Amino acid sequence: MRIIETIAEMRKLRRQSGLVCLVPTMGSLHQGHRRLIEAAAERGGLTVVSIFVNPLQFGLGEDYDLYPRDLAQDVAASRAAGADVVFAPAVSEIYPPGSEATRIELGPITQVLCGRTRPIHFSGVATVVAKLFHIVEPNFAFFGAKDAQQVAVIRRMVRDLNFDVDLVRVPTVREANGLACSSRNRYLTDQERERAGALRRALTAAQGLYARGERRQAALIAQVSAILKTADITPEYVEVRSWDGLTSLGDTLDESPALLALAAWMGKARLIDNVLLGADREEQAAVRDQSGEGPVARGQSVQRRG
Ligand code: PAJ
Repeated sequence: MRIIETIAEMRKLRRQSGLVCLVPTMGSLHQGHRRLIEAAAERGGLTVVSIFVNPLQFGLGEDYDLYPRDLAQDVAASRAAGADVVFAPAVSEIYPPGSEATRIELGPITQVLCGRTRPIHFSGVATVVAKLFHIVEPNFAFFGAKDAQQVAVIRRMVRDLNFDVDLVRVPTVREANGLACSSRNRYLTDQERERAGALRRALTAAQGLYARGERRQAALIAQVSAILKTADITPEYVEVRSWDGLTSLGDTLDESPALLALAAWMGKARLIDNVLLGADREEQAAVRDQSGEGPVARGQSVQRRG
């Protein structure tokens, strides 16, 4: 496996390669990242894992300085999961002085849900992912379902700016109690980690209500809030939005796919999770893209070319 630190070297290797799969990460790799890398490696071609803690997506007072960094461990984890290349550029390589003023702005989709308290976050994510797409020129790029808004934002960017890449959405990998794996889980105490299992329980309970026919948004959200309360968790938000575009929905949901998402602080960690409504199983909820084609078999393409 190769470790590449410069854009020039990454481009050179890309030109020599056929199919390329990219897994963008900020490192501190865990089982969730591992599953993304495995899915990319299963797809075939050159599997590139980018490791870059992107300053543009952290707001003032957020954990950019604290964010865990351990390249040696991440290189080992990438290799074990089947990566061919780790692309780990320095901040000055990606953002030479003066360049950080150039940003991708996507409008309202970045200002709802997590964007309300993290107003610059998704513009920073979109900007770095656009740069990675230009540098690596992947055929397929892999993203985790845990970060549902991130998937929605990248999908919008790919469509609106005509990136020639297929996005693959990989189901959320969880700890034994249902807590979604996250680099930030290491900020939790054992007791907080245990209580955080309620996030998943709350979302699946609401999903169950939906499956039994409940379509009133307020009832679904009340179910989530009630379960969070039993674990003494006050959420930052619990919301239902359209899967495609994250627009607000009427009081009574129709049958189109919707996202039930939440964020909550537990001690020093801000945790997020979500489920999809309006699909039998999360696996099937990749949601048709604009071309009208269904999702690909495994890994669920959410954006196909053309
Ligand atoms: P990071 O938080 O490192 O996550 C990298 C990828 O791993 C994302 O696509 C994320 O959704 C996925 N992921 C994280 N936890 C997961 C889990 N439990 N199960 C499945 N997938 C999971 O997301 C980012 O980095 C950055 O915003 C990035 C896209 C790299 C841009 O800087």
